[in-house]
Amino acid sequence: MNRILLLPGDGIGPEVIAETRRVLGWFAQNRNMSFDIEEDLVGGVSFETYGTPATDAMMAKALAADAILFGAVGGPQWDPLPFAQKPERGLLRLRKDLELFANLRPALCFDALKDASTLKPEIVSGLDILIVRELTGGVYFGEPKETTTLANGEKRAVDTQVYTTSEIERIARVAFELARLRDKRVVSAEKSNVMVTGVLWREVVTRVHKAEYSDVALSHILADNLAMQLVRNPKQFDVIVTDNLFGDVLSDEAAQLTGSIGMLPSASLGAKDAKTGRQPALYEPIHGSAPDIAGKGLANPIACILSLAMCLRYSFGRIDDAKLLETAVERVLAEGYRTADIMQPGMTKLGTQEMASTVLKALDALAAG
Ligand code: IPM
Ligand code: MG
Repeated sequence: MNRILLLPGDGIGPEVIAETRRVLGWFAQNRNMSFDIEEDLVGGVSFETYGTPATDAMMAKALAADAILFGAVGGPQWDPLPFAQKPERGLLRLRKDLELFANLRPALCFDALKDASTLKPEIVSGLDILIVRELTGGVYFGEPKETTTLANGEKRAVDTQVYTTSEIERIARVAFELARLRDKRVVSAEKSNVMVTGVLWREVVTRVHKAEYSDVALSHILADNLAMQLVRNPKQFDVIVTDNLFGDVLSDEAAQLTGSIGMLPSASLGAKDAKTGRQPALYEPIHGSAPDIAGKGLANPIACILSLAMCLRYSFGRIDDAKLLETAVERVLAEGYRTADIMQPGMTKLGTQEMASTVLKALDALAAG
């Protein structure tokens, strides 16, 4: 029995999670898997109901689950809230309390979508990069994090960028391990020219590489240069490892290379327990809550559906099923089906539910051989 917690959240989150739940149902019915599915609130809806973006009860369910499927959080109506009550804090608490330190963000350009990118097709066709973002440290969590008022009445805000050796070691290992399953090339990005955390980052990654992963090619790059290289020649990269803030920014950039942020899944993983083999894991589409299209049936469910594929692969060890689902998505795109965000001339435009139904049909067809 696989215990799954669904956290639809805000905006288009509930729509894409509802469709992904149908896909989950397909695997239960057709692939001999059983799921124990729970659902709870997170983010703005949780704040509206309970006064907090993440309740202790929800956190307890999250800690007990084998995997969490997360939709999205946030919306303009919650912008004025104090920091601790903002919807985003719900997600940050999940990441922190479950110690989901490794965020895997593949940027893969489906062949059918190479013309949907804002970059020239030859720059992005066949693109397959994996960004490994450190997720529980750095400037998002460092203390002090505060706004104070100075004697002259002026305000002063501080965020703190902090990294320890062990935090860098463990994310570096994740990147090297994943590179071994791919093209065995890692690029590590920081700002060692201006930041001491960057200097330490480069030192530690270099040391881990030398001691444990000399079969993998490692190079270092300054994060600003990486931002430029990503639009100049993105196919030079295989695995990119970087800190929390740079990873946040660069993964949005990489997402756009693929045509639409509505296509990309992510996995956030913790450390595997040496005794039980259990590994905390949260899967989420990397698009946000998209309040402008929420509730209209326009959202692209593919990023969320592909997040389920990552879940099958990393949490349940069902590599073949993960591939089956990815193939179904590829087929649907190749057959010309599109949601509004990736619509191109001559293609068939579908809404959220229709797109999921089309993926389910493709799964049926693939399963029938
Ligand atoms: C992401 C998002 C989050 C982040 C927000 C919603 C807190 O942008 O997952 O990339 O900044 O990490
Ligand atoms: Mg982001």
